[in-house]
Amino acid sequence: MNRTHNNNELRIEHVGQVVELKGWAQKVRNLGGLIFIDLRDRYGVTQLVVNPKEVDEQLYETAIKIKNEYVLCVKGVVVERESKNPNLPTGDIEVKVTELEILAEAETPPMLIQDDTDALEDTRLKYRYLDLRRPKMQRNLIVRSKVMQIVRNYLSSLDFIEVETPILTKSTPEGARDYLVPSRVHPGEFYALPQSPQIFKQLCMVAGLERYFQIARCFRDEDLRADRQPEFTQIDIETSFLTAEEIQTIVENLFAKIFKEIKGIDIKVPFDRVSYYEAMSRYGSDKPDRRFGLELVLLNDIFENTEFSIFKQVLENNGDIRAINVKNAADKYSRKEIDRLTNLAKKYHAKGLAYLKYNNGEFNGSFSKFLTDNEKQALIKRLNVEENDLLLFVSDEFETCCTALGALRKQVGKELNLINEDVYDFLWVVDFQLFEYSPEDGRYYAKHHPFTSPKPESLPYLTSDPAKCLAQAYDIVLNGYEVGGGSIRIHRREVQNQMFAALGFTQEEAYKRFGFLLDAFRYGTPPHGGIALGLDRIIMLLVNTENIRDVIAFPKTQSATCLMSDAPSKVDTKQLEELHIKVTVDEE
Ligand code: AMO
Repeated sequence: MNRTHNNNELRIEHVGQVVELKGWAQKVRNLGGLIFIDLRDRYGVTQLVVNPKEVDEQLYETAIKIKNEYVLCVKGVVVERESKNPNLPTGDIEVKVTELEILAEAETPPMLIQDDTDALEDTRLKYRYLDLRRPKMQRNLIVRSKVMQIVRNYLSSLDFIEVETPILTKSTPEGARDYLVPSRVHPGEFYALPQSPQIFKQLCMVAGLERYFQIARCFRDEDLRADRQPEFTQIDIETSFLTAEEIQTIVENLFAKIFKEIKGIDIKVPFDRVSYYEAMSRYGSDKPDRRFGLELVLLNDIFENTEFSIFKQVLENNGDIRAINVKNAADKYSRKEIDRLTNLAKKYHAKGLAYLKYNNGEFNGSFSKFLTDNEKQALIKRLNVEENDLLLFVSDEFETCCTALGALRKQVGKELNLINEDVYDFLWVVDFQLFEYSPEDGRYYAKHHPFTSPKPESLPYLTSDPAKCLAQAYDIVLNGYEVGGGSIRIHRREVQNQMFAALGFTQEEAYKRFGFLLDAFRYGTPPHGGIALGLDRIIMLLVNTENIRDVIAFPKTQSATCLMSDAPSKVDTKQLEELHIKVTVDEE
């Protein structure tokens, strides 16, 4: 038997037709005579009915055996249902079975195969093939597949060439730890899996391809979070001769296309450009969620003469005092709740959290006794303070002050349901610093990666005053997620060498790691730049999930394991010997 329809196709106009269907038994109800089976496939569900009075004994015997998740093949006649199900597209009809074959039996599955399953995530990951049978998960994978098609069609229409770059490669410079693969043929030597195709895509520009893209798998051994996986996928793009704005336009139009085709939404282009400084000082994040207010407000001038020693000290050290006004929330946050927020602020390296509640025309809170009348009046005016408002203050050096208060802003925004979930807010964050100083290591690191070009006006300070240099880099942010990042690259060898020097590489070290790129730059390198978009995160936003694992077919857990295949796992001693590897960790 071959199927004539899928399980989401039959309607009232099909009544009377003989059809053949295939799929899984989603639900079986035996009403002591009539047997009803919901037959599910990728497309939907159709109700089957087996009537003992109308079928032969053998068919009925087979029907009685059917349990959940049995794979079936049926032939039958479409009939109008007595009691219709308006919640099901095929709910007006059912198929009266005339022939039935069990294609495969199934054991009782360890989880419910339906959208709102009650299974723990560990169970879902262990039995991923069952989890992926759930319509919701299939919808996610379908969106992912469609987006990849849209990307390929759109970029190909703009003359981009899809190029595959190596997976077994040399360490790449995205700043995470590498996954290493030992070489059997070269004892003691290792390949690294790419953290991104960065160097190869730049070499494609040296090669004269002009427009490259790849839907590229990247590997990073880093601390995992809800929006991070150790292997993830980038829509990776590189172009020659284009300005940052031209690259951004290509990306904006790509997003407009994706959102139109997947969600039917018109996205307004161009997107806003917000400087890194503005993003940090207003929203406390370099990936601001602007779907709600609660903006950070600078208060240094108000507390110029403060008696509150913590603020005083911070101001003496050129730090900042900033606050958010959580409107009408003083009664919603008890002492205990404020302690919880304080712990959150501390997680982001703030030393503490000061707060004030405004009730009956009076401030009460952690430092109210130090407030002068002038300070009170100034606070009321600057923060638009009204009855029952809660003010949260963090004081510290710029980055810590903004980041910690930004984390509070996000948390409180979520808790008080201030976020407008119907909005898709895109923006570019630009004017990043080129370098980031690490006090622990006593050196500068590249804020993006070491191939990012400084702004022309920063060039003279590359080695003399790195802190002053701005980058020609841009991140694209959607609803508080960094969904992509890119830059115009350095294309001149001497500038690249200066950059390595600023990062503390000796000539020799730079050559050892990136010599092939520096060599390539000898032979006529076009000005170039590009971007990489995080495909997984884009899909998360399109399907409204906060869990990156929901949009990856076979993801890893928070501790980078695969519960289904049990990777990573021990290997045979023989295999290790061939690879010249000795494991020194104790056997538990
Ligand atoms: P970057 O490191 O910013 O840039 O990565 C680009 C985008 O990839 C996504 N992303 C991740 N998604 C899931 N899990 C992860 N562990 C993860 N890490 C990053 C983010 C991020 O914005 N070569 C440069 C790009 C360039 O300069 O062209 C790069 O890789 O959405």
